[in-house]
Amino acid sequence: RFLRWTWRLTYLSVIGGLVYTGYGIYQNRTPAEQVDPDPSKKTLVVLGTGWGSVSLLKKLDTENYNVIVVSPRNYFLFTPLLPSCTTGTIEHRSIMEPIRNFLRHKKAAVKYYEADCTKIDYENKMIYINDDSEIKGSTSATEVPFDMLVVGVGAENATFGIPGVRENGCFLKEVGDAQKIRKRIMDCVETATFKDQSPEEVKRLLHMVVVGGGPTGVEFAGELQDFFENDLRKWVPEIADNFHVTLVEALPNVLPSFSKNLIDYTEQTFKEETIEIRTKTMVKNVTEKYIEAQYTDAQGQKQLEQIPYGLLVWATGNALRPVVKDLMSQIPAQKDSRRGLAVNEYLVVKGTENIWAVGDCAIANYAPTAQVAAQEGAFLARLFNQMAKTEEIETELASLSIAQEKAANKETRDDAFAKIKDLQKRLRRVKSMGPFEYSHQGSLAYIGSEKAVADISWLTGNLATGGQLTYFFWRSAYLSMCFSTRNRILVIMDWMKTQVFGRDVSRE
Ligand code: FAD
Ligand code: NAI
Repeated sequence: RFLRWTWRLTYLSVIGGLVYTGYGIYQNRTPAEQVDPDPSKKTLVVLGTGWGSVSLLKKLDTENYNVIVVSPRNYFLFTPLLPSCTTGTIEHRSIMEPIRNFLRHKKAAVKYYEADCTKIDYENKMIYINDDSEIKGSTSATEVPFDMLVVGVGAENATFGIPGVRENGCFLKEVGDAQKIRKRIMDCVETATFKDQSPEEVKRLLHMVVVGGGPTGVEFAGELQDFFENDLRKWVPEIADNFHVTLVEALPNVLPSFSKNLIDYTEQTFKEETIEIRTKTMVKNVTEKYIEAQYTDAQGQKQLEQIPYGLLVWATGNALRPVVKDLMSQIPAQKDSRRGLAVNEYLVVKGTENIWAVGDCAIANYAPTAQVAAQEGAFLARLFNQMAKTEEIETELASLSIAQEKAANKETRDDAFAKIKDLQKRLRRVKSMGPFEYSHQGSLAYIGSEKAVADISWLTGNLATGGQLTYFFWRSAYLSMCFSTRNRILVIMDWMKTQVFGRDVSRE
């Protein structure tokens, strides 16, 4: 009897789950009618479609403003799973969410322009935008006025002016970067196996060098070694003796922002995976076939070494985008800021009243992570919703005060007075919103061979853990954070596909 009931309950919950998912998909595919944007309302321009901006747009009540979004990327990218796209563990479209689908579900319509913002004219409240895509219409450059502006343009790749990086290296920030890396890995493999290739050239072509031992470099190195162990070794056995991954880091250890025991665990795991780590090694120059790196030898002497490579992935962190640099140069209060737009505790760009900044382009004393950007975006949405409510209440209060003054009898006057009191109370509540406070949930990183490391904020402090269990936690955490049900299903299907059939070794 117990078994029968268990079976019935399981059956009902499966049916319930399917109906719920089906309804979600139906709703997603049939958006409701939208209210037209209201030009009489304040124009809120949002730059970017990354973690910060999309998190703001998700929670923003778009009926309160005339909202315009400008970004050269018409999709949101779930960056934490981008390293998995470089080897085909996950297909890139599984972690992209079209911005059009998402905006179409907002109550009031939002305008979207696929363009780069090339200049922000702070004095004249105007941005200049440029459509840089291949297809050109009658115009590809124009201007957009704003009352309020949110800058969420992220950051670009830091090269520290090291010669040859841009020309010869691959970055890992956008979908195009991951596609380029995937193609290059297979190009190196196929070229290395070309008839009569010299042994030195085979060695060079199969040497995969990653510069930067931060989370991006570490995760990519782990994914690449997995690709070799699980797939390449099997399908192209002749490369097995020469395929080699090296991670080069200027500091004494990798993952400097993680706990000491997780750093040791990662370094030990890499050793077992045969990924070579070269710490205290600073890359100074990059040519087409080798990098020049400086290290200190056993005698304490600085030495310059040439390291040949087939693939070079450059992951040395963030740098300012030109549009942000230019805005900073227009505002005297930003003169001492170096790494990004200095903001106050309400994320207002210092020295301005109507410009806010979120994510990697803002400096608010937090690490440039998706977690910070998403929380900042959600905070701004709450702030803007409250601001709109405040304005609404203040207008209502003003008209009630006039009505009270003009009231013909005591009853109407008392009635207006009671309403005013009530509104004043609501206004105080609305205005009492505190400043932005970041709540750190923890840091996670995949380190290869189905292992991950995690520094998790716990009730009593910090929990630092690494291994296979952490890897399952890593997977479930990122799965739950995916943008949409569609993304989640696609990622699960990709993981299953990789498990069953292995990764695709064809070169696109
Ligand atoms: P982004 O998400 O980079 O978005 C910037 C947006 O601005 C983009 O839409 C871009 O197209 C647009 N844009 C650029 N220039 C202009 C312009 N001139 N005008 C208009 N729009 C413009 N963080 C974590 O917390 N956990 C992780 O696991 C993690 N993994 C990562 C893995 C990788 C490979 C990378 C590269 C980063 C990872 N991060 C992670 C960091 C995280 O992705 C960033 O901190 C986050 O994306 C910052 O969000 P953002 O909104 O500031 O910028
Ligand atoms: P990073 O700034 O975290 O690390 C870059 C590393 O490159 C540094 O350790 C630096 O010492 C090294 N470096 C710089 N110049 C060098 C040179 N010339 N030669 C050798 N080494 C050099 O950059 P990363 O990994 O791109 O991350 C950027 C941001 O995104 C960080 O805030 C990070 O926390 C976040 N992120 C988080 C992830 C996660 O939580 N899993 C994954 C990826 C990124």
